Amino acid sequence: MKFEFYNPTRLIFAAGALARLGEVTREQGKRALLVTGGGSVKKNGVFDRAVASLNAAGISFVECAGVEPNPRITSVVRGAERARAEGCDVVIALGGGSTMDAAKVMAAAVFYDGDPWDMIYHGQPAPHVPVRSLPIITVPTLAATGSEMNDGAVITNAKTIVKSFVSAECLYPRVALVDPELTLSVPKQQTAFGVCDLITHVTEGYFNGVDGTPLQDRFAEGTVITAMEWGPRAVANGADLEARAQVQWASVVALNGWVQVGVNAAFPVHMIEHVLSAHHDVAHGAGLAVVNPAWMRFAARDRPARFAQFAERIWGVPATFGNEAARAREGIDRFESFLRGLGCPTRLAELGIGESQLQRYAEDALHVAHDRQGRLPGRPSLSKDEIVEVLRAAL
Ligand SMILES: [Fe+2]
Repeated sequence: MKFEFYNPTRLIFAAGALARLGEVTREQGKRALLVTGGGSVKKNGVFDRAVASLNAAGISFVECAGVEPNPRITSVVRGAERARAEGCDVVIALGGGSTMDAAKVMAAAVFYDGDPWDMIYHGQPAPHVPVRSLPIITVPTLAATGSEMNDGAVITNAKTIVKSFVSAECLYPRVALVDPELTLSVPKQQTAFGVCDLITHVTEGYFNGVDGTPLQDRFAEGTVITAMEWGPRAVANGADLEARAQVQWASVVALNGWVQVGVNAAFPVHMIEHVLSAHHDVAHGAGLAVVNPAWMRFAARDRPARFAQFAERIWGVPATFGNEAARAREGIDRFESFLRGLGCPTRLAELGIGESQLQRYAEDALHVAHDRQGRLPGRPSLSKDEIVEVLRAAL
Protein backbone atom coordinates (compact mmCIF):
# COMPACT_ATOMS: atom_id res chain seq x y z
CA MET A 1 0.00 0.00 0.00
CA LYS A 2 2.00 2.92 -1.29
CA PHE A 3 0.39 5.56 -3.42
CA GLU A 4 -0.44 9.18 -4.02
CA PHE A 5 -3.81 10.40 -5.19
CA TYR A 6 -4.78 13.75 -6.63
CA ASN A 7 -7.86 14.83 -8.52
CA PRO A 8 -8.73 18.52 -8.31
CA THR A 9 -11.70 18.46 -10.69
CA ARG A 10 -14.88 19.82 -9.15
CA LEU A 11 -17.71 17.52 -10.19
CA ILE A 12 -21.25 18.82 -10.53
CA PHE A 13 -23.56 15.91 -11.30
CA ALA A 14 -27.28 16.57 -11.84
CA ALA A 15 -29.99 16.32 -14.43
CA GLY A 16 -30.41 19.89 -15.64
CA ALA A 17 -26.91 20.96 -14.60
CA LEU A 18 -26.29 22.40 -18.08
CA ALA A 19 -28.22 25.49 -16.95
CA ARG A 20 -25.29 26.25 -14.62
CA LEU A 21 -22.71 26.43 -17.41
CA GLY A 22 -22.61 30.23 -17.43
CA GLU A 23 -22.30 30.46 -13.66
CA VAL A 24 -19.39 28.00 -13.44
CA THR A 25 -17.66 29.47 -16.49
CA ARG A 26 -17.75 32.96 -14.99
CA GLU A 27 -15.62 31.68 -12.12
CA GLN A 28 -12.89 30.70 -14.62
CA GLY A 29 -12.90 33.35 -17.34
CA LYS A 30 -14.76 35.85 -19.50
CA ARG A 31 -14.27 34.64 -23.04
CA ALA A 32 -14.63 30.97 -23.85
CA LEU A 33 -13.49 28.72 -26.64
CA LEU A 34 -16.56 26.50 -27.02
CA VAL A 35 -15.47 23.18 -28.51
CA THR A 36 -18.01 20.82 -30.08
CA GLY A 37 -18.03 17.69 -32.22
CA GLY A 38 -19.99 16.66 -35.27
CA GLY A 39 -23.10 18.73 -34.72
CA SER A 40 -25.48 16.56 -32.69
CA VAL A 41 -25.53 19.21 -29.94
CA LYS A 42 -26.90 21.66 -32.48
CA LYS A 43 -29.62 19.30 -33.68
CA ASN A 44 -30.84 18.35 -30.22
CA GLY A 45 -30.89 21.83 -28.74
CA VAL A 46 -28.08 21.30 -26.22
CA PHE A 47 -25.88 23.88 -27.95
CA ASP A 48 -28.60 26.55 -27.78
CA ARG A 49 -29.19 25.86 -24.09
CA ALA A 50 -25.47 26.11 -23.39
CA VAL A 51 -25.27 29.40 -25.29
CA ALA A 52 -28.30 30.77 -23.41
CA SER A 53 -26.62 29.97 -20.10
CA LEU A 54 -23.36 31.61 -21.21
CA ASN A 55 -25.19 34.69 -22.49
CA ALA A 56 -27.13 35.05 -19.26
CA ALA A 57 -23.84 35.02 -17.34
CA GLY A 58 -22.25 37.60 -19.65
CA ILE A 59 -19.68 35.19 -21.09
CA SER A 60 -18.67 35.77 -24.69
CA PHE A 61 -17.48 32.80 -26.72
CA VAL A 62 -15.98 31.70 -30.01
CA GLU A 63 -16.74 28.32 -31.49
CA CYS A 64 -14.47 25.49 -32.49
CA ALA A 65 -16.90 23.04 -34.08
CA GLY A 66 -16.32 19.81 -35.95
CA VAL A 67 -13.94 17.85 -33.73
CA GLU A 68 -14.03 14.40 -35.31
CA PRO A 69 -14.30 10.99 -33.61
CA ASN A 70 -10.72 9.79 -32.90
CA PRO A 71 -9.78 13.49 -32.72
CA ARG A 72 -6.92 14.62 -34.92
CA ILE A 73 -3.96 16.70 -33.89
CA THR A 74 -4.92 19.03 -36.76
CA SER A 75 -8.14 19.87 -34.88
CA VAL A 76 -6.10 20.61 -31.77
CA VAL A 77 -3.92 23.02 -33.77
CA ARG A 78 -6.99 24.70 -35.25
CA GLY A 79 -8.65 25.16 -31.87
CA ALA A 80 -5.53 26.43 -30.12
CA GLU A 81 -4.90 28.98 -32.89
CA ARG A 82 -8.46 30.20 -32.62
CA ALA A 83 -8.28 30.48 -28.83
CA ARG A 84 -5.07 32.50 -29.13
CA ALA A 85 -6.30 34.75 -31.93
CA GLU A 86 -9.57 35.46 -30.12
CA GLY A 87 -8.05 35.99 -26.69
CA CYS A 88 -9.97 33.19 -25.00
CA ASP A 89 -9.27 32.68 -21.31
CA VAL A 90 -11.27 29.49 -20.71
CA VAL A 91 -12.06 26.36 -22.77
CA ILE A 92 -15.43 24.60 -22.66
CA ALA A 93 -15.77 21.10 -24.11
CA LEU A 94 -19.38 20.31 -25.01
CA GLY A 95 -19.44 16.83 -26.48
CA GLY A 96 -18.21 13.25 -26.16
CA GLY A 97 -14.78 11.89 -25.34
CA SER A 98 -13.23 13.09 -28.60
CA THR A 99 -14.41 16.64 -28.09
CA MET A 100 -13.24 16.68 -24.48
CA ASP A 101 -9.83 15.21 -25.29
CA ALA A 102 -9.22 17.63 -28.14
CA ALA A 103 -10.37 20.59 -26.03
CA LYS A 104 -8.06 19.63 -23.17
CA VAL A 105 -5.03 19.50 -25.45
CA MET A 106 -6.09 22.77 -27.16
CA ALA A 107 -6.14 24.43 -23.73
CA ALA A 108 -2.51 23.40 -23.19
CA ALA A 109 -1.41 24.05 -26.77
CA VAL A 110 -2.35 27.72 -26.36
CA PHE A 111 0.79 28.05 -24.21
CA TYR A 112 3.11 26.00 -26.41
CA ASP A 113 4.74 27.51 -29.47
CA GLY A 114 5.98 24.20 -30.87
CA ASP A 115 4.01 21.44 -32.60
CA PRO A 116 1.25 20.25 -30.21
CA TRP A 117 2.02 16.66 -31.26
CA ASP A 118 5.16 17.08 -29.11
CA MET A 119 2.84 16.71 -26.10
CA ILE A 120 1.65 13.23 -27.09
CA TYR A 121 3.50 10.17 -25.80
CA HIS A 122 4.59 7.96 -28.67
CA GLY A 123 7.38 5.46 -28.35
CA GLN A 124 9.41 7.51 -25.92
CA PRO A 125 8.49 10.18 -23.39
CA ALA A 126 6.87 13.10 -25.14
CA PRO A 127 9.27 15.92 -26.06
CA HIS A 128 7.04 18.42 -24.25
CA VAL A 129 4.80 17.44 -21.32
CA PRO A 130 2.45 20.39 -20.81
CA VAL A 131 2.62 22.20 -17.48
CA ARG A 132 0.13 24.97 -18.14
CA SER A 133 -3.27 25.26 -19.77
CA LEU A 134 -6.27 27.53 -19.94
CA PRO A 135 -8.92 26.50 -17.40
CA ILE A 136 -10.98 23.63 -18.82
CA ILE A 137 -14.69 22.95 -18.27
CA THR A 138 -16.05 19.65 -19.50
CA VAL A 139 -19.70 19.04 -20.33
CA PRO A 140 -19.97 15.45 -21.54
CA THR A 141 -22.82 14.47 -23.87
CA LEU A 142 -21.93 10.78 -23.80
CA ALA A 143 -21.16 8.39 -20.95
CA ALA A 144 -17.99 6.60 -21.94
CA THR A 145 -14.44 7.88 -21.70
CA GLY A 146 -14.39 9.46 -18.26
CA SER A 147 -12.28 12.24 -19.75
CA GLU A 148 -14.46 14.83 -18.02
CA MET A 149 -12.78 14.15 -14.68
CA ASN A 150 -9.23 13.05 -15.42
CA ASP A 151 -5.93 14.41 -16.67
CA GLY A 152 -5.70 12.38 -19.87
CA ALA A 153 -6.44 12.84 -23.55
CA VAL A 154 -6.03 10.58 -26.58
CA ILE A 155 -5.20 12.17 -29.93
CA THR A 156 -4.62 10.74 -33.41
CA ASN A 157 -2.02 11.80 -35.94
CA ALA A 158 -3.60 10.84 -39.26
CA LYS A 159 -0.38 11.45 -41.20
CA THR A 160 1.72 9.00 -39.22
CA ILE A 161 -1.27 6.75 -38.27
CA VAL A 162 -0.48 6.99 -34.57
CA LYS A 163 -3.11 7.27 -31.86
CA SER A 164 -1.67 7.94 -28.45
CA PHE A 165 -2.17 9.80 -25.21
CA VAL A 166 -1.01 12.62 -22.99
CA SER A 167 -1.59 12.88 -19.29
CA ALA A 168 -0.53 15.92 -17.31
CA GLU A 169 -1.72 17.65 -14.17
CA CYS A 170 -2.68 20.81 -16.05
CA LEU A 171 -5.21 18.80 -18.09
CA TYR A 172 -7.49 18.13 -15.13
CA PRO A 173 -10.66 20.09 -15.88
CA ARG A 174 -11.47 22.74 -13.30
CA VAL A 175 -15.11 21.71 -13.44
CA ALA A 176 -16.90 18.69 -14.85
CA LEU A 177 -20.52 19.63 -15.41
CA VAL A 178 -22.17 16.25 -15.81
CA ASP A 179 -25.80 16.35 -16.85
CA PRO A 180 -27.25 12.93 -17.71
CA GLU A 181 -30.12 14.60 -19.59
CA LEU A 182 -27.58 15.42 -22.30
CA THR A 183 -27.14 11.72 -23.01
CA LEU A 184 -30.85 10.96 -23.56
CA SER A 185 -30.58 11.25 -27.34
CA VAL A 186 -27.41 9.17 -27.75
CA PRO A 187 -28.16 6.34 -30.24
CA LYS A 188 -28.25 2.73 -29.02
CA GLN A 189 -24.96 1.75 -30.59
CA GLN A 190 -22.99 4.66 -29.13
CA THR A 191 -24.58 3.99 -25.75
CA ALA A 192 -23.44 0.36 -25.92
CA PHE A 193 -19.92 1.34 -26.98
CA GLY A 194 -19.75 3.73 -24.03
CA VAL A 195 -20.73 0.96 -21.61
CA CYS A 196 -18.01 -1.25 -23.08
CA ASP A 197 -15.45 1.55 -22.79
CA LEU A 198 -16.20 2.20 -19.14
CA ILE A 199 -16.11 -1.51 -18.28
CA THR A 200 -12.78 -1.83 -20.06
CA HIS A 201 -11.29 1.08 -18.09
CA VAL A 202 -12.04 -0.95 -15.00
CA THR A 203 -10.95 -4.37 -16.27
CA GLU A 204 -7.57 -3.00 -17.41
CA GLY A 205 -6.72 -2.16 -13.79
CA TYR A 206 -8.38 -5.27 -12.40
CA PHE A 207 -6.32 -7.63 -14.51
CA ASN A 208 -3.07 -5.72 -15.03
CA GLY A 209 -2.50 -4.22 -11.62
CA VAL A 210 -0.39 -5.32 -8.68
CA ASP A 211 -1.59 -8.00 -6.24
CA GLY A 212 -3.15 -7.24 -2.88
CA THR A 213 -5.66 -4.49 -3.70
CA PRO A 214 -8.89 -5.83 -2.16
CA LEU A 215 -10.71 -2.51 -1.91
CA GLN A 216 -9.84 -1.59 -5.50
CA ASP A 217 -11.09 -5.04 -6.57
CA ARG A 218 -14.44 -4.28 -4.98
CA PHE A 219 -14.58 -0.79 -6.53
CA ALA A 220 -13.88 -2.36 -9.91
CA GLU A 221 -16.40 -5.18 -9.45
CA GLY A 222 -19.05 -2.73 -8.23
CA THR A 223 -18.49 -0.48 -11.23
CA VAL A 224 -18.79 -3.36 -13.70
CA ILE A 225 -21.88 -4.76 -11.95
CA THR A 226 -23.51 -1.32 -12.04
CA ALA A 227 -22.76 -1.01 -15.75
CA MET A 228 -24.15 -4.54 -16.29
CA GLU A 229 -27.36 -3.70 -14.48
CA TRP A 230 -28.02 -0.28 -15.95
CA GLY A 231 -26.24 -0.39 -19.32
CA PRO A 232 -28.81 -2.66 -20.98
CA ARG A 233 -31.64 -0.46 -19.68
CA ALA A 234 -30.03 2.66 -21.15
CA VAL A 235 -29.58 0.85 -24.48
CA ALA A 236 -33.13 -0.54 -24.48
CA ASN A 237 -34.76 2.78 -23.63
CA GLY A 238 -32.60 5.81 -24.25
CA ALA A 239 -35.18 8.06 -22.57
CA ASP A 240 -34.73 6.29 -19.22
CA LEU A 241 -33.06 9.10 -17.28
CA GLU A 242 -32.38 6.95 -14.24
CA ALA A 243 -30.49 4.40 -16.36
CA ARG A 244 -28.63 7.17 -18.18
CA ALA A 245 -27.60 8.72 -14.86
CA GLN A 246 -26.36 5.45 -13.36
CA VAL A 247 -24.35 4.63 -16.48
CA GLN A 248 -22.88 8.10 -16.60
CA TRP A 249 -21.84 8.04 -12.97
CA ALA A 250 -20.24 4.65 -13.55
CA SER A 251 -18.32 6.07 -16.52
CA VAL A 252 -17.00 8.95 -14.41
CA VAL A 253 -15.91 6.66 -11.57
CA ALA A 254 -14.35 4.15 -13.97
CA LEU A 255 -11.57 6.53 -14.97
CA ASN A 256 -11.36 9.39 -12.49
CA GLY A 257 -8.62 7.55 -10.63
CA TRP A 258 -10.46 6.01 -7.68
CA VAL A 259 -10.61 2.51 -9.12
CA GLN A 260 -6.98 2.70 -10.20
CA VAL A 261 -5.46 4.12 -6.98
CA GLY A 262 -2.39 2.10 -6.00
CA VAL A 263 -3.10 -0.51 -8.68
CA ASN A 264 -0.36 0.75 -10.98
CA ALA A 265 -1.79 -0.91 -14.05
CA ALA A 266 -0.88 -0.80 -17.70
CA PHE A 267 -3.68 -0.59 -20.29
CA PRO A 268 -2.73 -3.23 -22.89
CA VAL A 269 -6.25 -3.63 -24.33
CA HIS A 270 -6.42 0.10 -24.94
CA MET A 271 -2.98 0.14 -26.52
CA ILE A 272 -4.01 -2.59 -28.97
CA GLU A 273 -7.38 -0.96 -29.69
CA HIS A 274 -5.82 2.42 -30.39
CA VAL A 275 -3.97 0.89 -33.31
CA LEU A 276 -7.22 -0.42 -34.80
CA SER A 277 -8.80 3.03 -34.43
CA ALA A 278 -5.74 4.70 -35.93
CA HIS A 279 -5.78 2.46 -39.00
CA HIS A 280 -9.50 1.98 -39.51
CA ASP A 281 -11.16 4.86 -37.65
CA VAL A 282 -13.36 2.42 -35.74
CA ALA A 283 -15.27 3.61 -32.66
CA HIS A 284 -13.09 3.14 -29.60
CA GLY A 285 -15.71 1.23 -27.60
CA ALA A 286 -16.41 -1.08 -30.55
CA GLY A 287 -12.71 -1.88 -30.92
CA LEU A 288 -12.47 -2.61 -27.20
CA ALA A 289 -15.43 -5.00 -27.37
CA VAL A 290 -13.48 -7.02 -29.93
CA VAL A 291 -10.05 -6.89 -28.29
CA ASN A 292 -10.92 -7.24 -24.60
CA PRO A 293 -12.44 -10.77 -24.57
CA ALA A 294 -9.67 -12.05 -26.86
CA TRP A 295 -7.02 -10.49 -24.62
CA MET A 296 -8.72 -11.94 -21.53
CA ARG A 297 -8.63 -15.49 -22.93
CA PHE A 298 -4.92 -15.09 -23.56
CA ALA A 299 -4.15 -13.54 -20.16
CA ALA A 300 -6.33 -16.05 -18.26
CA ARG A 301 -3.90 -18.83 -19.16
CA ASP A 302 -1.33 -17.19 -16.86
CA ARG A 303 -3.67 -16.20 -14.05
CA PRO A 304 -6.76 -18.42 -14.00
CA ALA A 305 -7.46 -17.60 -10.35
CA ARG A 306 -7.85 -13.90 -11.08
CA PHE A 307 -10.19 -14.55 -13.99
CA ALA A 308 -12.13 -17.11 -11.93
CA GLN A 309 -12.68 -14.34 -9.35
CA PHE A 310 -13.99 -12.09 -12.15
CA ALA A 311 -16.33 -14.92 -13.22
CA GLU A 312 -17.62 -15.66 -9.73
CA ARG A 313 -18.00 -12.16 -8.35
CA ILE A 314 -19.31 -10.39 -11.42
CA TRP A 315 -20.81 -12.95 -13.80
CA GLY A 316 -22.34 -15.27 -11.23
CA VAL A 317 -20.35 -18.36 -12.18
CA PRO A 318 -20.64 -20.76 -9.21
CA ALA A 319 -17.45 -21.71 -7.37
CA THR A 320 -18.46 -25.31 -7.97
CA PHE A 321 -18.31 -24.87 -11.77
CA GLY A 322 -15.36 -26.95 -13.03
CA ASN A 323 -11.83 -25.94 -12.16
CA GLU A 324 -10.38 -22.44 -12.04
CA ALA A 325 -9.51 -22.41 -15.72
CA ALA A 326 -13.03 -23.50 -16.67
CA ARG A 327 -14.59 -20.83 -14.46
CA ALA A 328 -12.24 -18.25 -15.95
CA ARG A 329 -13.31 -19.21 -19.48
CA GLU A 330 -16.98 -19.25 -18.52
CA GLY A 331 -16.74 -15.73 -17.04
CA ILE A 332 -15.11 -14.40 -20.18
CA ASP A 333 -17.75 -16.12 -22.34
CA ARG A 334 -20.50 -14.48 -20.27
CA PHE A 335 -18.80 -11.10 -20.56
CA GLU A 336 -18.57 -11.50 -24.32
CA SER A 337 -22.24 -12.54 -24.52
CA PHE A 338 -23.14 -9.46 -22.48
CA LEU A 339 -21.31 -7.25 -24.98
CA ARG A 340 -23.07 -8.95 -27.90
CA GLY A 341 -26.40 -8.53 -26.14
CA LEU A 342 -25.74 -4.81 -25.84
CA GLY A 343 -25.12 -4.64 -29.58
CA CYS A 344 -21.34 -4.44 -29.60
CA PRO A 345 -19.26 -6.24 -32.23
CA THR A 346 -16.96 -8.91 -30.82
CA ARG A 347 -15.05 -9.98 -33.96
CA LEU A 348 -12.59 -8.03 -36.07
CA ALA A 349 -14.53 -9.05 -39.18
CA GLU A 350 -17.50 -7.03 -37.90
CA LEU A 351 -15.23 -3.98 -37.93
CA GLY A 352 -14.17 -4.78 -41.50
CA ILE A 353 -10.70 -5.77 -40.33
CA GLY A 354 -9.02 -8.84 -41.82
CA GLU A 355 -5.80 -10.66 -41.08
CA SER A 356 -3.55 -9.03 -43.66
CA GLN A 357 -2.04 -6.40 -41.34
CA LEU A 358 -1.96 -8.09 -37.93
CA GLN A 359 1.86 -7.86 -37.80
CA ARG A 360 1.70 -4.16 -38.52
CA TYR A 361 -0.88 -3.56 -35.77
CA ALA A 362 1.30 -5.39 -33.28
CA GLU A 363 4.38 -3.39 -34.31
CA ASP A 364 2.43 -0.14 -34.02
CA ALA A 365 1.11 -1.02 -30.55
CA LEU A 366 4.67 -1.71 -29.43
CA HIS A 367 5.87 1.51 -31.03
CA VAL A 368 3.56 3.48 -28.73
CA ALA A 369 4.13 1.46 -25.55
CA HIS A 370 6.88 -0.99 -24.67
CA ASP A 371 8.94 -2.00 -21.66
CA ARG A 372 12.73 -2.45 -21.56
CA GLN A 373 12.41 -5.86 -23.14
CA GLY A 374 10.41 -4.36 -25.98
CA ARG A 375 7.15 -5.96 -24.81
CA LEU A 376 3.71 -4.38 -24.39
CA PRO A 377 3.29 -3.68 -20.65
CA GLY A 378 0.55 -5.63 -18.83
CA ARG A 379 0.01 -8.94 -17.06
CA PRO A 380 1.38 -10.75 -18.89
CA SER A 381 3.49 -8.39 -20.96
CA LEU A 382 3.12 -9.24 -24.64
CA SER A 383 5.63 -9.78 -27.44
CA LYS A 384 4.78 -8.86 -31.00
CA ASP A 385 3.86 -12.47 -31.78
CA GLU A 386 1.62 -12.65 -28.74
CA ILE A 387 -0.24 -9.47 -29.75
CA VAL A 388 -0.75 -11.04 -33.18
CA GLU A 389 -2.07 -14.18 -31.44
CA VAL A 390 -4.60 -12.12 -29.46
CA LEU A 391 -5.78 -10.34 -32.60
CA ARG A 392 -5.91 -13.58 -34.59
CA ALA A 393 -8.19 -15.05 -31.97
CA ALA A 394 -10.53 -12.08 -32.53
CA LEU A 395 -10.74 -12.37 -36.33
FE1 LIG B 1 -11.23 3.88 -23.25
